Amino acid sequence: MSEKIAPADTCVLVTGGAGFIGSHTVVELLSGGYKVVVVDDLSNASRKVFDRIKTIVGDDAAANLTFYEADVNDRPALTKIFDEHHPDRVIHFAGFKAVGESVSKPIEYYSNNIGNTLTLVDVMREHGCKSIIFSSSATVYGDPDSLPLTEESPKKMATNPYGWTKWMIEQILTDLHTADPEWNVVLLRYFNPIGAHPSGLMGEDPKGIPNNLVPYVAQTAIGKRDAVHVFGNDYDTPDGTGVRDYIHVVDLATGHVAALAWMNGRQGVEIFNLGTGTGTSVLQIIEAFSKACGHEIPYVIEARRPGDVTANYADCSKARDLMGWEAKFNIEDMCRDSWNWQSHNPNGYEG
Ligand code: UD1
Repeated sequence: MSEKIAPADTCVLVTGGAGFIGSHTVVELLSGGYKVVVVDDLSNASRKVFDRIKTIVGDDAAANLTFYEADVNDRPALTKIFDEHHPDRVIHFAGFKAVGESVSKPIEYYSNNIGNTLTLVDVMREHGCKSIIFSSSATVYGDPDSLPLTEESPKKMATNPYGWTKWMIEQILTDLHTADPEWNVVLLRYFNPIGAHPSGLMGEDPKGIPNNLVPYVAQTAIGKRDAVHVFGNDYDTPDGTGVRDYIHVVDLATGHVAALAWMNGRQGVEIFNLGTGTGTSVLQIIEAFSKACGHEIPYVIEARRPGDVTANYADCSKARDLMGWEAKFNIEDMCRDSWNWQSHNPNGYEG
């Protein structure tokens, strides 16, 4: 059994804590009384997010936050941070995440995502810290045989290097526990995170043309893009467009806090789906977002995007039964908060 510790005595090191999911999780951790050390190289995030976090949680909770601008793969820097803070738990978000880019830059993706994980767990081991939550993805389920997806559903071949890095890191962390049963590993398989902090102060800030649906819809709604390109309307779904399980980023963030509480005092490897259990089509997203922003959002139907699956959505009963966690926000909430963020921050954190 690993040691059981109260949140106020728990130092959580968060890699990638300035990113979209990371920053929302940092807010929930600070609000939950945890001490937080963020390591982020800001390669795909803005330093300005920390001012926003401070505004949301207040000065007292913000005093429990330390930020280091460092690459997780920079072993001397990471070792220094561990020497200084002796983190009890790690939540590992840092990684490259653009699916299309991963196909053209496999070396960069494998070396960054897998390399930084190996450095991280080695430095953790050296410091006797053996509790890690990993940011995995429903992409490991590939093209599902049946829905909803449970944690028992088989892992399938990934369709791109990004997906393989998630797949392989899950395996690496599982093997770590096999070699040393004191490791305490939680693999969180996210479905499709969207939305933004209800305050409008934090949200997704993609660089360049968004790859994912909702940021593209949001930029179309604000007039930065002409029309949403709907990738295929000939799928075997009610309206022919792809179906996904979209989850509000704040629900995802509270899922990490629930996982921390659940893993406290345990060891082992446990997998949890984090989704809502509801499938929503591309056209339903466009419609819900149109309602949220108050005007029609133009779209054009295009060919299918290679590598896309028809539909996926989660069975989240394991997270509910074991961790007592459930998603609270629905698609309307997600689109409202996403629009609130986009309309108040048209150029993201730099705007
Ligand atoms: C992708 C990744 C997933 C990753 C997630 C969040 C794969 C196969 N998928 O999920 O691993 O965790 O992003 O980064 O690796 N769509 C459009 N027009 C657009 C964009 C998307 O119609 O401009 C459609 C897609 O065909 C799909 C749905 O919208 O049906 C959602 O797409 P997207 O937001 O990119 O997420 P996923 O592909 O599900």
